[in-house]
Amino acid sequence: MYFVANWKMFGNLKSLNTLNKVIKFSKSKEIKKGRLIYCPPYTLISSFLKKFENCLIDLGAQNCHESDVYGSHTGFINSRMLKNVGANYVIIGHSENRRKGETDKLINIKIKNAIKAKLKIIFCIGETISEKNKGKTKLILSKQIKLGLKKIKIKSNIFIAYEPVWSIGTGKIPKIRELDQIIKFIKGKFKDKLPKILYGGSVNTQNINDLKQISNLDGFLIGGASQNAKKFIDIVKKTYS
Ligand code: PGA
Repeated sequence: MYFVANWKMFGNLKSLNTLNKVIKFSKSKEIKKGRLIYCPPYTLISSFLKKFENCLIDLGAQNCHESDVYGSHTGFINSRMLKNVGANYVIIGHSENRRKGETDKLINIKIKNAIKAKLKIIFCIGETISEKNKGKTKLILSKQIKLGLKKIKIKSNIFIAYEPVWSIGTGKIPKIRELDQIIKFIKGKFKDKLPKILYGGSVNTQNINDLKQISNLDGFLIGGASQNAKKFIDIVKKTYS
């Protein structure tokens, strides 16, 4: 199982101290088969990498610019730069960025160029509450998958993170029965090699006991709770208990 920590726009140099507990945990037997990936803000990627030097915790970024060449894009960072600094993953298509105008087409270009840069991609999809209430969840997910992965043949480095928009940061999660169906539906979109699928949206130390029952799930994308080392570790432990 993969446990991806999405720190969003939180964290500073002081946060590095909070990682000691997680590093210790990552070297213990308690981690079982859990794989930890941290996606801090860009400003902390190098410091996190140094901190994780002697352990197996991996590093990712939370977004990237769509261009695969260096250029005049003030304030942006592309996937080549992320790979160069030592990141192995990048989150693309998060609803917080879609909401600001990131289109499926742009997401598709970002994914293609992240593949070129040899990054693994955590590709986020999910419906809003009004889409859910109109019964459009599957339609939206199909569209996001179709357009986001358009003309991408090799999908082995792509993780799909199903994150219902209404669940992010709200404490609400879908019913496990619904999640089972949705994960099955997403997997059904892929004929040959199935991508790994993560669930994200308000994962916490309590609801993990229910969420871990979802069949065929490969892990979790964890926002708020991942900033607290104890909670993050607890989520991993409870997944395997
Ligand atoms: P949350 O965020 O766990 O705080 O709901 C998840 C995410 O946005 O990836």
